[in-house]
Amino acid sequence: MNDHDPVPDPAHMRKQYRAEGLDESDLAEGPMEQFARWFRQAAAEGAVFEPNAMVVSTADAEGRPSSRTVLMKAYDEQGFVFYTNYDSRKARDLAENPYVSLVFPWHAIARQVVVSGTARRTGRDETAAYFRLRPHGSQLGAWASAQSSVVFSRAELDAAYEELNARYPEGEQVPVPPNWGGFRVAPQTVEFWQGRHDRLHDRLRYVAEQDGSWRVERLSP
Ligand SMILES: Cc1cc2nc3c(=O)[nH]c(=O)nc-3n(C[C@H](O)[C@H](O)[C@H](O)COP(=O)(O)O)c2cc1C
Repeated sequence: MNDHDPVPDPAHMRKQYRAEGLDESDLAEGPMEQFARWFRQAAAEGAVFEPNAMVVSTADAEGRPSSRTVLMKAYDEQGFVFYTNYDSRKARDLAENPYVSLVFPWHAIARQVVVSGTARRTGRDETAAYFRLRPHGSQLGAWASAQSSVVFSRAELDAAYEELNARYPEGEQVPVPPNWGGFRVAPQTVEFWQGRHDRLHDRLRYVAEQDGSWRVERLSP
């Protein structure tokens, strides 16, 4: 492929999705257990590249939305966890407006999981425990980057990194940056979308009830 090859026309791009469906009777009791089943399948034999990559959409106090990809680093009955810079655009949005939407776009297996909920910061202990698992270079990167702010040049960023690398060489413990940490998204709704033939997809959505149980509804594709 080179830059002179014709660009494919997206209007003519069309894939037939799988015949196998998603039935109410197949679903787990709760959405996190169902998520675990699908996540296992997405991760199996590399079916999906980075199945823990998810698009996080936030909105500021005026309702202006923004989206970006992050890596989901944990999930449990309390929700989905990702780590980021607390001064970033997304974190500033979440400080004003905790409502958030997540999408796991598992195109390779014709599935997506769509979550809506609210985000709150993880505790410092949980953040520190995860930070310790990160490779040394990523730990320094978290310090070096004032995420979402305008940076003068790549050289400025590299210089900040080199300075940190001199201060905390490999093998030395890097402290957790005070403005870096996790968010846990507690789900209000979780939709499991399965692509089907003729665009008659299955969409089953768990909705949180007041008493902590979940209702499941089917949405029209
Ligand atoms: C595959 C992928 C994974 C990413 N993972 C993270 C992540 O876990 N945390 C993070 O802060 N940014 C991550 N990023 C970068 C974000 O998409 C984004 O550029 C950054 O968080 C700044 O977003 P904001 O300015 O909207 O706050 C990732 C990007 C990609 C493409």
